[in-house]
Amino acid sequence: MPMELDAFVRGLPKAELHVHIEGTLEPELMFTLAERNGVELAYASVAEVQAAYEFTDLQSFLDIYYQGAAVLITEQDFADLMTAYLERAHTDGVRHAEIFFDPQTHLERGIGFPIFMDGFAAAQRGAEDRLGITSSLILCFLRHLPVDSALETLEAARPYLDRVVGVGLDSSEVGYPPEGFAAAYEAARDLGLRAVAHAGEEGPPAYVWEALDVLRVERIDHGVRVEEDDELVERLIDGSTPLTVCPLSNVKLRVFDTLADHNLKRLLDRGVKVTINSDDPAYFGGYIADNYLAVAEALALSREDLVRLARNSFEATFLPNGRREELLAALDEFVG
Ligand code: HPA
Ligand code: ZN
Repeated sequence: MPMELDAFVRGLPKAELHVHIEGTLEPELMFTLAERNGVELAYASVAEVQAAYEFTDLQSFLDIYYQGAAVLITEQDFADLMTAYLERAHTDGVRHAEIFFDPQTHLERGIGFPIFMDGFAAAQRGAEDRLGITSSLILCFLRHLPVDSALETLEAARPYLDRVVGVGLDSSEVGYPPEGFAAAYEAARDLGLRAVAHAGEEGPPAYVWEALDVLRVERIDHGVRVEEDDELVERLIDGSTPLTVCPLSNVKLRVFDTLADHNLKRLLDRGVKVTINSDDPAYFGGYIADNYLAVAEALALSREDLVRLARNSFEATFLPNGRREELLAALDEFVG
C-alpha cells in the first residue's frame, strides 16, 4: 500500500528557505515570555490573540507581527524561540533551514546583537546536536526604514557575520522598491554575504527585475507576481533562480483568494525553480508540511511534483556542496 500523503510529506527530506524567526512566535510562547519579562500584552488570552490574526493585506499583518516581537527580551527568549522552531521543523522533515531575522526590530527596542545572536546560536547548536538539523541565518533589512539604517545595522553585525550566510529585504513592499537598498547590498557583498530579497509578493514584476539586476540577489522570496511578465519568467528559468513561495501566507495576506487560485503549479510546470515554505507559521496557520499538504490537495500535485519541490529546496540552499549532496542523497533514498 502506498504511504499516506501526510506521512509522505512529513517524511520527505526538505529545506526551509523562507521563514522569519519572529514569525514562529506561537501565542502560547508569547504569553509565557510576556509573563517572564513583565511585558503587557494587548490581548487577554491565547484565543484573543488568534482572533486578531485576521489579515487583509501585508501591512495589516506586519502591524501585529511587530507588536508580538516586543516580548522577546533576553538571550534565553531568543534561544527558546529558535529551539521551538527547529524542533517543529524537524518533525516536518526539514533537514536544513535558512532563517530570516529582523535585527532592526530588536535594535530599536534596545535589544542588541549579542543578545539575539547568542540566543540563536545556542539553540542552533543544540538542535543540530540532538536532531541533526542544520541551519543558518539571513539578516533582513526592513525596507520601510532608510538605507542608512540598513548600512548601520550591517556595521553593527560585523562581529557576528561568521554566523550569517546572507542578507534579505522584508517588511512593507509597495512603495519601497529594491533599488533603494543597492548600497546596503553592495556592502553586504563586499563582506562575502549571499543575497535574497522579498519581491513580487504585493509589489510588481519591476521590483523583481530590480532585485535581480540592482541588488543581484540569488533567490526571490515570494515572487508570485512574476507570472505577469513572460520575459521575467524566462529570465528566472534561464538563470535557475529559485522562488521561495509561501502558499498559506499568500492566502492569509490575500495575495490569492484561495489556494486553488495559487499559481505555484503553473510556475513549477513552466520550469521555474519553485520551493514551498512557511513564512510566518505562527501567524498564518501552518508550518512547512502543512503548506506542502494544503497545495498538494488544492492543486492536485503528484508525488513527483512534491519530490521536485523538495529537490528544488536543497538545490536552492546556500549550503556548501558536501552537505547539499548529502541531503539530495537522503531525498533519493527516501524516494527509493
Ligand atoms: N513579507 C514581507 N515582510 C515580512 C513577511 C512577508 O511575507 N513576513 C515577515 N516580514
Ligand atoms: Zn517573508
